[in-house]
Amino acid sequence: MKKTYRALRGTHDILPAEARRWRYLERVSRDIFRRYDFGEIRTPILEQTALFSRSVGESSDIVRKEMYSFERGDDSLSLRPENTAPVVRAFIEQSLHRGVATGYPERLFYIGPMFRYERPQKGRRRQFHQIGVEVLGAAEPAVDAEAIRMSEDLFDAIGISDREVRIASVGDATCRPVYLAVLRDWLESRQDQVCEDCRRRIKENPLRIFDCKRESDQLLYRDAPLLAQHLCEPCREHDDGLKRALDRLEVNYVQSERLVRGLDYYRRTVFETVAAGLGAQDAILGGGRYDGLVEELGGPALPGFGFAIGMERLLLLMPADRVDDERPDVALIALGDEAWWDAVDWARRLRAAGIAVSMASRPRPMGAQIKRASKRRARFALFIGESEKAAGAYGLKDLDSGKQRTVATDEIVRAIGRK
Ligand code: HAM
Repeated sequence: MKKTYRALRGTHDILPAEARRWRYLERVSRDIFRRYDFGEIRTPILEQTALFSRSVGESSDIVRKEMYSFERGDDSLSLRPENTAPVVRAFIEQSLHRGVATGYPERLFYIGPMFRYERPQKGRRRQFHQIGVEVLGAAEPAVDAEAIRMSEDLFDAIGISDREVRIASVGDATCRPVYLAVLRDWLESRQDQVCEDCRRRIKENPLRIFDCKRESDQLLYRDAPLLAQHLCEPCREHDDGLKRALDRLEVNYVQSERLVRGLDYYRRTVFETVAAGLGAQDAILGGGRYDGLVEELGGPALPGFGFAIGMERLLLLMPADRVDDERPDVALIALGDEAWWDAVDWARRLRAAGIAVSMASRPRPMGAQIKRASKRRARFALFIGESEKAAGAYGLKDLDSGKQRTVATDEIVRAIGRK
């Protein structure tokens, strides 16, 4: 029996018809980023494993069990599970912080694949794609609000309407440890009522208990102390400033006190956008502030803010008519086998003039060629035969209107043009 191969579980092929939707989403996103003065960054897909364990966190699910890691020589390498750490690494390595003048942080965006070994389901894949942004070198809550406003503009532009922005503060290095001690105390006296996973969370990262899926645990945690009641003064001020800025920018949001992010680098603002119609995996965006991360990764003490959008999830929701419309400008119809080589010559000439040409790769019956032209949704059909060549005039049919006319040889490029 012949051996065949299949794409790995949780990965998928994007074929041309589907790729037109991806390109639409990418084009609209790039246009939004242009309006907001963001520049593109492309970092390697492979990084040192330690970059992620230091930033995303040793105790996070991502680092504990979801990374694709392997050894090469003495290095442990990983496919990136997210792109904030790589962007910060590049920011430090390329000395981009030198360009950060007060009031003008570095504003970067990226579009690309990430890898997490998760159980695949609707909206959750092992290779998935993110559109993300990072703003490095600005601490003001207005920066958080502007980025959130930008994400909202993007969702509006691609037609995602039924959604909700959830914000919270996770505190900073001053107030979070105090709160964690309070929460841990509270939990430890209830150890015997919680699930095994939560017992581990109490030790490693008690905040994650709010993410527990077990109903009886959730019921118990309703009465748990909340970080919102323990914020220090600067964190409280940041949070208030953020809300004022969001109001000013007319962003609708809800405060979500139990919002848990799966990554450890966040300080102060965290936020998620959830959308209706996705089932369990309803977060189309996650992000927040990560003051301290640049320093943690060996750079200067500069703050950061960013978010990433899951492209697969967005594409599940994007209206069906949102596609990049790339029709061939013209389909060449060779009238008889002899004319096929003349059509090849015409294809070269037209393509050199920037025109998109579709044609058969060998002589085919006329009916088959016309069928193909309409299937490819070509704008024009150009009929090429011996008598046309002799007369120096060809039949050109506008396939949208159905109107056909005769066009002289040196008028053809102009007649097809680009609509
Ligand atoms: P995250 O919440 O892990 O954050 O991921 C952001 C978004 O990526 C999620 O809301 C979701 O839409 C999508 N996503 C995550 N995992 C999968 C998956 N397995 N399959 C499909 N989509 C997925 C981050 O990655 C942070 N780096 C965001 C950030 C940027 N924070 C600051 N700057």
